Amino acid sequence: MHPKNSLKTRLMIACALAAFVSPLSALAEPVARGIWLGNTDGAAKTPPMGWNSWNAFRTEVDEAKVMGAAQALVDDGLARKGYIYVNLDDGWWQKRRVTDGRMIIRTRIFPSAATPDGTTSFRGFTDRLHSMGLKAGLYTDVGHNACSQAYDLHSPNLPEGTAGERQVGLDGHVSQDINLYFREWGFDYLKVDACGLADFAPDSKLVKDNGYIGLTPEIDRASLNRTDSVKVERRYAEVAAALKQANPDNDYVFSICNWGMANVREWGKEVGSSWRTSSDITPNWSSMLHNYDSAVKRALYAGPGHWNDPDILFIGAGDFDTDHLTEARSHFTLWAMLNAPLLISYDLRKAPQSLLDIWGNADLIAVNQDPAGNQAIVAYDSDDAQILVKTLADGHKVVALFNRTASPAKLNLLASHLKLKNDAPIQLTDLWSKAGITFTGETEFELAPHETRVFSVQGARELADGVYLSEIPGVINVADDGVREPQLDPTVHRMIDPWAGTRSGGSRPQYAGWGGAQADMTPYAQALQIGGHTYDSGIGVLGNSLLQVKNEGYATFRATVGVDDSTSNRDRAVSFTVYADGKLVAKTPPLKFGDAARDISADIAGHKIIELLVTDDNVANEQPVVVTWGEARLQK
Ligand code: GAL
Repeated sequence: MHPKNSLKTRLMIACALAAFVSPLSALAEPVARGIWLGNTDGAAKTPPMGWNSWNAFRTEVDEAKVMGAAQALVDDGLARKGYIYVNLDDGWWQKRRVTDGRMIIRTRIFPSAATPDGTTSFRGFTDRLHSMGLKAGLYTDVGHNACSQAYDLHSPNLPEGTAGERQVGLDGHVSQDINLYFREWGFDYLKVDACGLADFAPDSKLVKDNGYIGLTPEIDRASLNRTDSVKVERRYAEVAAALKQANPDNDYVFSICNWGMANVREWGKEVGSSWRTSSDITPNWSSMLHNYDSAVKRALYAGPGHWNDPDILFIGAGDFDTDHLTEARSHFTLWAMLNAPLLISYDLRKAPQSLLDIWGNADLIAVNQDPAGNQAIVAYDSDDAQILVKTLADGHKVVALFNRTASPAKLNLLASHLKLKNDAPIQLTDLWSKAGITFTGETEFELAPHETRVFSVQGARELADGVYLSEIPGVINVADDGVREPQLDPTVHRMIDPWAGTRSGGSRPQYAGWGGAQADMTPYAQALQIGGHTYDSGIGVLGNSLLQVKNEGYATFRATVGVDDSTSNRDRAVSFTVYADGKLVAKTPPLKFGDAARDISADIAGHKIIELLVTDDNVANEQPVVVTWGEARLQK
């Protein structure tokens, strides 16, 4: 198990024991470790790029369609630009053989998988993809059964046979299946869905009507508290361990697909290369907003090797088709800024040039694939419009101005949004039109309905000799965010559910993560403020938290810290401590609500891992204290 998990588990046990002894016991505290606790497994150093069969074909997938997409990736130059994963989604399986539990491929749609003895093998298929310079991805489920067995009951491509033969998911077969898919068949990428944990309740109509073997749900899509997040995490961690074992070269991608449920937006980074942050995207503006929102405020939880996944692209269909190129460009720009996996899901055998130009925008691909892995930060936020800013490895910025509404919108872009000097010229280059704009201080844009403008930026940094931590989320590992009990995040756009419609009292907040660490705002989306002074830059987090920062050559850490004025718990004192490679290098005395902010600085020259610890004398059943690392920065 990953060190973070064991740390967490220990904390949970300590808390449980403490709560047993007295309802007012102290909370177990995180401790600095001096080693990087972030997950380094897997090959997704930058967000995975490629193609996925689902949005294009659902279960009506076949070998000609997939190989057609693969050939088009090569012929259209998309593979050269980074689109190399060719991912087969639901629909490929025939059954699980009863004699030995081996998975059998549906050769009617994958003829090259046929073998004389009926064993079937995808080796020829993956060999062909590899010989084209591509990589191969496959799909499975973490439970007994797959999503199509609940939602595509009319499909000719459902698993066949007895109830046991139709149990195509990983449950009970984790290492057998992973070894088959990776060692024997040669896949490079695995998407692991979770319908098997959500939809096959033993007494449900679905299970009875279809003669499935039920599994008591561990995920309740309608309720975080009726979901067993710990069990779900444990199941995915078991898959992660099997993947690691089957891939000693570390060249694999583990895509977790439990749709933002079970608090995965917190633990996904410990376990997978990417994790879906929300339900399935549909080709509808509102759905795109919902999925985008599920990832946009989670920048501190992603970085090289681990990515928020707001789902595959739906460019080419519905609100994002060739008649809606403004929307299609917005969708692509936003996914690029979020460091989302870029997975095209369109029948590429007949892709029009206008769509190829979107997927093929080399400047935006470079933004998405920038090696620093800094997900964009929200520099201006509202339900109508947002300004996103992403810092590249070379220190330059990219800014996106996003009009969420169906009306035109006026947006003012300020030097301060970019953390650039107010009195020096700023040059923008439009990453779609390539046109240039120069301004000083502030400029204004009029955006068309649903339009996103995106620019690369040149200017003089506010902090000439360093970086704010909120500019470099890619090197930050939120080892412990101080969240006690997962809370539902109210900031995600609540669409009319594409499947249930309005057959309920309303679309509710669905995803845990509220109270998580944030860049340039508090965990509860307030401006950072200590003792009446507001901080434009900084990290907002809860007490009893541990952030780790990779130091890439800086000499000093500085911040102005204290209890944030917005905290609802005004009683507890907190201490801020900084460690460099496990050595204590700075510490504040206990600070309380209303105390003036304290400057803290530490010599970190030559040290690789800086740890920012906030401890308090909080008790387990109180609100956490909101704290601010104001202007937290690394300097030369
Ligand atoms: C969903 C998943 C989709 C697709 C589908 C296949 O649960 O989110 O991306 O894989 O299952 O049935």
